[in-house]
Amino acid sequence: MLNGPNLNLLGRREPGVYGTTTLQELENGLSAIAPSGMMLEFFQSNHEGQMTDRIHRVMDEPVDGLVINPGAWTHTSVAIRDALSAVAAPFVEVHISNVHAREAFRHHSYLSDVALAVIVGCGTQGYAFALETLKQHLKG
Ligand code: DQA
Repeated sequence: MLNGPNLNLLGRREPGVYGTTTLQELENGLSAIAPSGMMLEFFQSNHEGQMTDRIHRVMDEPVDGLVINPGAWTHTSVAIRDALSAVAAPFVEVHISNVHAREAFRHHSYLSDVALAVIVGCGTQGYAFALETLKQHLKG
């Protein structure tokens, strides 16, 4: 599970938009409810190059799929899109807030058309929905 810039501030950052759950609480909760047989690893970065490098490493790891909240890179980053396309592991794009009900610059995503699924506006529960979606997809 990958989280982009500013998501380390979850719980403290604009709680009216992103809720009061911290990233640590979110990660603990997901580990607790992960579908059986699914092992989770978590990574958050505020640095686009570090996130790009982390995605590249997936090519050499036994990773079946990704859940990513790319934060603001959603709306700006061809590099993150290209990295995700390069590794070819299915990924679910998550946004805690309903980006379509917010500023116009949040309405476009560089990732959505290459994502397996997009979950928007479900709060931090969206990450759990994303895991379930990946599980169903991987069961094939
Ligand atoms: C976000 C929405 C983005 O527009 C924003 O830049 C974020 C978080 C969300 O989870 O709702 O950092 O991805």
